[in-house]
Amino acid sequence: MIELKKKIIVTSALPYANGEIHLGHVTSTYLPADIFTRFHRLKKNDAIHVCATDDFGTPILIKAEQEGKTPEQLVAYWNEKDKKDFKDFGISFDIFHQTSSKENVELTQYFFTKLNEKGYIYKKTITQAFCEKCQKFLPDRYVKGICPYCGAKEQYSDGCEKCGKTFQPGEILKPHCAVCGSKPITKESEHYFLKLSHFSDELKRWLTLNRNLQKDVKNYVLRWIEEGLRDWDITRDISWGVPIPLEGTKGKVLYGWFDNHLCYISTALKYFSDKGIDGKSWNSSEIYHFIGKDIVYHHYLFLPAMRLGVGEFKLPDFIPTRGHLLLQGQKFSKSRGWYVSLRGFLNDFPADYLRYYLSTTTPYDQTDVNFDWDEFHSRINNELVANIGNFIHRTLMFIWSRFKGIVPEPGEYNDLDIAFEEKIWKAEDNVGKELEKIELEKALKKIIEFSGSCNQYFQSCEPWANEKRASNCLYLCINAVRSLAILLEPFLPFSTEKLWKELNLSGSVHEQDWASISKILIKPNHKIDKPQILFKKIENEEIKKQKQKLKKGGKK
Ligand code: 2FM
Ligand code: ZN
Repeated sequence: MIELKKKIIVTSALPYANGEIHLGHVTSTYLPADIFTRFHRLKKNDAIHVCATDDFGTPILIKAEQEGKTPEQLVAYWNEKDKKDFKDFGISFDIFHQTSSKENVELTQYFFTKLNEKGYIYKKTITQAFCEKCQKFLPDRYVKGICPYCGAKEQYSDGCEKCGKTFQPGEILKPHCAVCGSKPITKESEHYFLKLSHFSDELKRWLTLNRNLQKDVKNYVLRWIEEGLRDWDITRDISWGVPIPLEGTKGKVLYGWFDNHLCYISTALKYFSDKGIDGKSWNSSEIYHFIGKDIVYHHYLFLPAMRLGVGEFKLPDFIPTRGHLLLQGQKFSKSRGWYVSLRGFLNDFPADYLRYYLSTTTPYDQTDVNFDWDEFHSRINNELVANIGNFIHRTLMFIWSRFKGIVPEPGEYNDLDIAFEEKIWKAEDNVGKELEKIELEKALKKIIEFSGSCNQYFQSCEPWANEKRASNCLYLCINAVRSLAILLEPFLPFSTEKLWKELNLSGSVHEQDWASISKILIKPNHKIDKPQILFKKIENEEIKKQKQKLKKGGKK
């Protein structure tokens, strides 16, 4: 059957340009999106992974003020830093841009103008928190207080981290200025509102008809619509943001959540135009927005409502949504030191170890995932090293030492060989089926099972004791190693590239064809390179050290 090449746009939720990428972001969003895109590149689909820093909004402004920098300087710094962290972790973005880019500012203003022309935006005077001591309006993160829905303390005034609700200015209870702590007064200010309520029926229809969305998320978003959507304040009284494209709006900008998801579109369009590709040819592409569950409201309601309103851009096909990451059973907390940054991790372990571990523990649903140093330890040592690494190494070493590095000519196959060859044929489809469905954890389990059966086959051939069996065994095993390299590429891009070189195969593992996994392409007489150990055991000491680093920050 001839499969048609698909066009796929994958986006990852944009990191705020004011702090380090932490493991939580990586687990729910960047790693799954990267594995998925890498898989589709191997499938020879046209797949691109798009991301940017989320530059606007009060958290960035506050941080810049604290550091004595301009917001432009701050976001440029974090954009560069994030890029480097992602690269070292093997996240292969095709483009990593900025929400403050010219392209995004223009697209955002276009959206505002269109929505306004169509009557979906209206003006209203509201009362706003104002700090007399700081002499400024206090939108969003400038105000902290009690969540009006669940009563959680110390929540920012734009939404509750505990119950996930977003709120409008003025709704937070017992407000105080996040900068100086004083009680704000209220002042009148003119704001623009998007008629979110107008889109209720259309949103409901889209959610109901779209079969790709995860059922549980869909259901609670539908419940929010049933409870009634409220119109959305899309402007703020600050200087850092996309200027409102209307006269008489000085001192006000568009809210960060109005412009940030538009950056998925503006950045993809920039990618196409930089490459000289007609963006329109991608109109029918499949769109995947990978996110964490804390930003469901924004991606399942604000984002589609704005696209529905303008009517020129496709709605997402998939919004893969995953849970939060806990650290040893507790919430991450930078201030308490209960925290592992991506950079911190990469300083101590290979990127592929983290990619492997997180992939085995993160399901395709909203369940929170636990990062546990002991589990990390045992998964790396017992699975990655003792199963996958062991099979690869014993195969390469056997060929290197017993056959002078030359792949032997097989003889007639016995039943065991025939059954094993069949396993190689089937691995591509078995694993691919899961990856297509974004069931990355299940896909990796199938690879581990495959590798387990490779070990079993090697063992039962006893090539060390039985010279006659050795040729068939090693011939099939070296081909299974090649298949494993491609199967694992989306998960372990660094190690599989090294392995590809050891196999002495041409090109790069990243450019291979997924369909070739089921083929026996390494022929007799092919010479491999000297094998190196790909995956090293983690010593108990190393884990002990990591736990000690956390000790100071534990429960208080
Ligand atoms: O919650 C966040 O970290 C936001 N910066 C995510 C933005 S995603 C998007 F819609 F742009
Ligand atoms: Zn203040």
